[in-house]
Amino acid sequence: MIALGINIDHIATLRQARQGIEPEPVLAALLAEQAGADQITVHLREDRRHIQYRDVQLLRSIIQTKLNLEMAPTAEMVTIAKELKPDTVTLVPEKREEITTEGGLNLEKPGLDKIIAELKEAGIEVSLFIEPDVSMIKLGDRLGAQAIEIHTGAYANLKKDDEIKAELQRIQKAAKTIKSSGLRCVAGHGINYKNIYGLLQLELFEEYNIGHSIISRAVFTGIEEAVREMKRILNQ
Ligand code: PXP
Repeated sequence: MIALGINIDHIATLRQARQGIEPEPVLAALLAEQAGADQITVHLREDRRHIQYRDVQLLRSIIQTKLNLEMAPTAEMVTIAKELKPDTVTLVPEKREEITTEGGLNLEKPGLDKIIAELKEAGIEVSLFIEPDVSMIKLGDRLGAQAIEIHTGAYANLKKDDEIKAELQRIQKAAKTIKSSGLRCVAGHGINYKNIYGLLQLELFEEYNIGHSIISRAVFTGIEEAVREMKRILNQ
């Protein structure tokens, strides 16, 4: 079975638009789980623009599936992860001015190996969010990652068939390297109800983390229906 992680950051974005109490991301997580989500994914950003510490704390104590915390590889975030103990930490790059996570993590950042080791020592699985680049994946493996999430944003933004095909080949090569290294092979960013089919055809990913398209559909259908439909596509 292919696992579906639901990224609920956008629920928190809507709440933060009024700095208020609704919609409640924790409720979204519970409904997503009820509809078949296998994991709840949240990004606790340095500027706390959507998900708050309290959300992660509540999710940790309430959800029954897995909790995947996306975070920048900083000392502050490592301390928080060790307090909150998510099942997985996905290390992502972070820039204050970006709208969403742009590009994969730079694995040449000094001290990344120590951060990965510290998180693993605390019993947390460490995943790295990186571009579909074979040399980066090999480096991620050497740094001690247990999973790699391929950034599918470039694939998702392409319009021309030949470009889509070329990017899928790049992703395939990268995903095969992840699997042959014995790491969990994950995909995320920009995935929707249409472009998922190209990725599924590769038969290499065991988990997808999807936020924007599912939450967008949920506005019209409700979150349970939106999650059920993606689950159906993943495992049909
Ligand atoms: N995976 C990672 C590592 C991300 O940073 C994001 C965006 O926060 C997602 C998955 C979900 O991307 P989207 O909202 O485009 O589906």
